Amino acid sequence: MQRILIDADTGIDDSIAILYALKSKKLLVEGITTCFGNSGAAQSADNCLRLIKLSGCGREIPVVIGSECSLEGEYASAPAHIHGKNGIGNVVLPKSGQKPLQEDAADFIVRKANELGGELVIVTTGRLTNLARALEKDPKLPRKVKKLVTMGGCLQVPGNVSPFAEANIAGDAKAANQVFRAGFHMFLVGLDVTTKTFITKQDLENLEMYCTEESRPCVEYIKKALDFYFEFHRQSAGMLCRCVVHDPLAMLIAEDGTLGEFAMIRAGVEYQVPAYRGMIVTDHRFDSEMEQDEIAACIRVDSDQAVRRLLFAFQ
Ligand code: RIB
Ligand code: CA
Repeated sequence: MQRILIDADTGIDDSIAILYALKSKKLLVEGITTCFGNSGAAQSADNCLRLIKLSGCGREIPVVIGSECSLEGEYASAPAHIHGKNGIGNVVLPKSGQKPLQEDAADFIVRKANELGGELVIVTTGRLTNLARALEKDPKLPRKVKKLVTMGGCLQVPGNVSPFAEANIAGDAKAANQVFRAGFHMFLVGLDVTTKTFITKQDLENLEMYCTEESRPCVEYIKKALDFYFEFHRQSAGMLCRCVVHDPLAMLIAEDGTLGEFAMIRAGVEYQVPAYRGMIVTDHRFDSEMEQDEIAACIRVDSDQAVRRLLFAFQ
């Protein structure tokens, strides 16, 4: 059982990653921190609380509202055309009685890492702002965390917010640069693999036939939310009745790294030059003196197996 802390900007794909984590028998969710991105951090936290209730996991999982803007104080307005006005495709889920934990998100991350004595796995599916703030509070954090799995970035494929940059990394490029260089045992799951992995409308119709009664509310939610997401994919990329799989893929890889193949890279993130903001910069020089740790960047994935596992959690 891996003990995970999720840091999310709870949009449609984040929500499916969270539901998967709550259903997985191999993951134990210790808490969720939220960040601005697909919606505001407070809205994301409210989405998380509703998703926890929907999952029927039967316990309260701490949810902490995190950063509402980047380290440099910027906030780009939420992409309502991608994730809806509420971040979850305008689906209205039943309200939860649970309230967000009144703790600073960075403090919560540091506290959990200390409490779990090296066992904590962090999975980020949004900007890296909360984690960068946690690093400021405890620079030894990377050595206290078992691994960090981050959905973000693009290496050999184009970006989705600029020719060179992916949304989670560009959304707070300074924070991303700090996290990339901090020495975490880090796995990067970026557009190189997420844009080659798809869920189709047919997958969901099949799932609806075979899901357990216990999982039916989750499946009904996923169907509605993905209808919204499919429409974005149709309008923006001409994809019919299907979407790419970003955040759930990172969660699946956090659960089982053998789904992917990885290249070790020494990397940082450009955050000063506006045109290249969010671009991952790699250093492939041989240098025996180089101290920066390498990041395992996912370059190939078994997409069929990943999607099958994702859907199987609800059967
Ligand atoms: O670029 C894709 C990422 O940006 C995903 O995490 C999506 O949820 C958005 O945050
Ligand atoms: Ca996300």
